[in-house]
Amino acid sequence: MPAAVTRGAAVTGAWRSAASPRLVDVSEPLVLGIETSCDETGVGIVRGRTLLADEVASSVAEHARFGGVVPEVASRAHLEAMVPTVRRALDTAGVTLRDIDAVAVTAGPGLAGALLVGVAAAKAYALALDVPLYGVNHLAAHVAVDVLEHGPLPEPCLAVLVSGGHSSLLLVQDVTDTMVPLGQTVDDAAGEAFDKVARLLGLGFPGGPAVDRMAKDGDPAAIAFPRAMPQSYDVSFAGLKTAVARWLEAHRGDVPVADVCASFQEAVVDVLTTKAVRACREYGVGHLLLGGGVAANSRLRALAQQRCDAAGLVLRVPRPALCTDNGAMVAALGARLADAGVAPSPLDLPADSSMPVTQVIARGALPGWHS
Ligand code: KG4
Ligand code: ZN
Repeated sequence: MPAAVTRGAAVTGAWRSAASPRLVDVSEPLVLGIETSCDETGVGIVRGRTLLADEVASSVAEHARFGGVVPEVASRAHLEAMVPTVRRALDTAGVTLRDIDAVAVTAGPGLAGALLVGVAAAKAYALALDVPLYGVNHLAAHVAVDVLEHGPLPEPCLAVLVSGGHSSLLLVQDVTDTMVPLGQTVDDAAGEAFDKVARLLGLGFPGGPAVDRMAKDGDPAAIAFPRAMPQSYDVSFAGLKTAVARWLEAHRGDVPVADVCASFQEAVVDVLTTKAVRACREYGVGHLLLGGGVAANSRLRALAQQRCDAAGLVLRVPRPALCTDNGAMVAALGARLADAGVAPSPLDLPADSSMPVTQVIARGALPGWHS
């Protein structure tokens, strides 16, 4: 038990939670995780590597008519959802606030106003409960969540994190400390591209699940959409989106929607999996991890599996509910940090909308806290 987390240390024994059939070691820290970086108010409760609760209140329906997430709408929704979602998580886990040993919260990156709500709530809980507070990096949390499903993280590993807000290729040497960015999007995030193409096709928001569904009846080789930046680990999807728009303009009134979806989707997942496998080879790592909302994409999962098998790599993909933004991933990273004895964040930690991926844990708001 690290010095930073001592509450509950005297309690030993084992019990089974409703959410997790595996025996729970109650000598491990019980961590409350809060995620509000975008449009999901996520509250997770984790003991060690065991998931006890993962409650999410999404404001996605409130953004649908705008065709994208409206930051101010998201912030207000977080405010309303925060306390009820924490209560639901506690009920699901069968614990009370007094049982919590540490609080973890997404400190960045994300929407500034949305992050502020989560960070303020987490500070209030940590202060009131007199427990350590970990302000964590959202991308590191997307990586850490996989331990809840597949056990200890093989480090180093390669992580491809793809969502509506981010597309990153990361070399994860130690998720509590060292994440090396190898590539990222130079324009649209992968999920953003799915959402924009779905909009062009009138498929609604969020577009990823709809494109994925439609693509099942289409031919991925029907239209040769471009694959940008083949030599780099960076990715670019803006040109692909424009190519789809041009193709639709040229074929007005006669659009095979399923073929467009399948061909567009194939271009995205081909680029992501090609670069991921190449990076695994170049850096000599044997495990590839997928995360973020786009990791729910059925074709991305299938092609990644196929290419990993061919290259002798092990693929790890958390179940879809753990791929999209959630509080469990934040709690999982908090538990890992506590276990590693990492010093908690100070109570003046800021919400940092552009928190770099090289920084796993937030430090104080005073000058020099980025160092
Ligand atoms: O991680 P997430 O819940 O939130 C952030 O954006 O951070 O990801 C949401 C994104 C949306 O752009 C959505 O269209 C995309 O993930 N998405 C998918 C699928 N499910 C969700 N994209 C492709 N295929 C899917 N099945
Ligand atoms: Zn995310």
